[in-house]
Amino acid sequence: MPSGERLAGKVAIVTGAGSRADGIGNGRAAAVLFAREGARVLLVDREPELAEATLAMIEEEGGEAVVQQADVTADEDCRAMAAEAVSRWDRLDILHNNVGIGGRGSVVEVDESDWEQVMRVNVTGMMLASKHAIPAMKESGGGAIVNISSISALRPRGLTSYSTSKGAVIALTQAMAVDHAPDGIRVNCIAPGPVYTPMVYSAGMSDELRDRRRHASLLKIEGTGWDIGNTALFLVSDEARYITGVIIPVDGGTILRGPAR
Ligand SMILES: NC(=O)c1ccc[n+]([C@@H]2O[C@H](COP(=O)([O-])OP(=O)(O)OC[C@H]3O[C@@H](n4cnc5c(N)ncnc54)[C@H](O)[C@@H]3O)[C@@H](O)[C@H]2O)c1
Repeated sequence: MPSGERLAGKVAIVTGAGSRADGIGNGRAAAVLFAREGARVLLVDREPELAEATLAMIEEEGGEAVVQQADVTADEDCRAMAAEAVSRWDRLDILHNNVGIGGRGSVVEVDESDWEQVMRVNVTGMMLASKHAIPAMKESGGGAIVNISSISALRPRGLTSYSTSKGAVIALTQAMAVDHAPDGIRVNCIAPGPVYTPMVYSAGMSDELRDRRRHASLLKIEGTGWDIGNTALFLVSDEARYITGVIIPVDGGTILRGPAR
């Protein structure tokens, strides 16, 4: 049995619910926390075996979830994931748009096809997932969407394609919040800071860089996927019923610090 009831009776889709390596990514953490609070969760990932590990964590705690293979850049896959949630559980209340990939370099350095791929995954993917989830949420009487941006959108540092895509996620959040408030759908955005997740350490990270990232925050502590997941849990719960269209940095105060190069 789930240990909490903050999302009891609700059905959620989490995109990128796996983690690219062992450990707790932002999507995995959100999926586990949603299930712990009573939601039934569709664990969407392009690589299903990565989401299977998240499923095992949820089932170990007595939660309910199912893995769905989908690439969020494919319209048909996004249509299928909303349809699967509804046919399996009769409703859809929550969409956690977590998938995102990195991109490096200035506009002078960036390769055009890499730029387009970052925009496609980070922006078009969220649009397509939302396009198919929103009608199902409307049918269910409303819902809540969380889009994952990054403080790179608010304080860019040499990751221009990534920062630009994450800026678009903020604008997308605000546009969706305005357009779908009449449907009873709240749309909010989290801008994570330099949290220590498989996304950043799976390609190798020196102890020195890890320490520098920790010290980038005012609080001098290391953020984790759980910090992002707990914020998402609040935003999709009824405790946030009066909150829509906001961008919440979850970064230990990193954006308030001076240049970090
Ligand atoms: N870790 C950080 O420091 C940090 C900082 C700011 C923002 N973020 C954001 O957090 C989010 C990622 O969090 P995470 O820790 O879960 O990442 P992750 O890299 O572990 O990815 C989670 C999953 O997404 C899946 N995925 C990738 N592309 C996909 C696609 N097209 N369709 C379906 N699934 C796909 C991967 O297979 C993986 O299992 C991203 O949006 C990222 O930009 C992270």
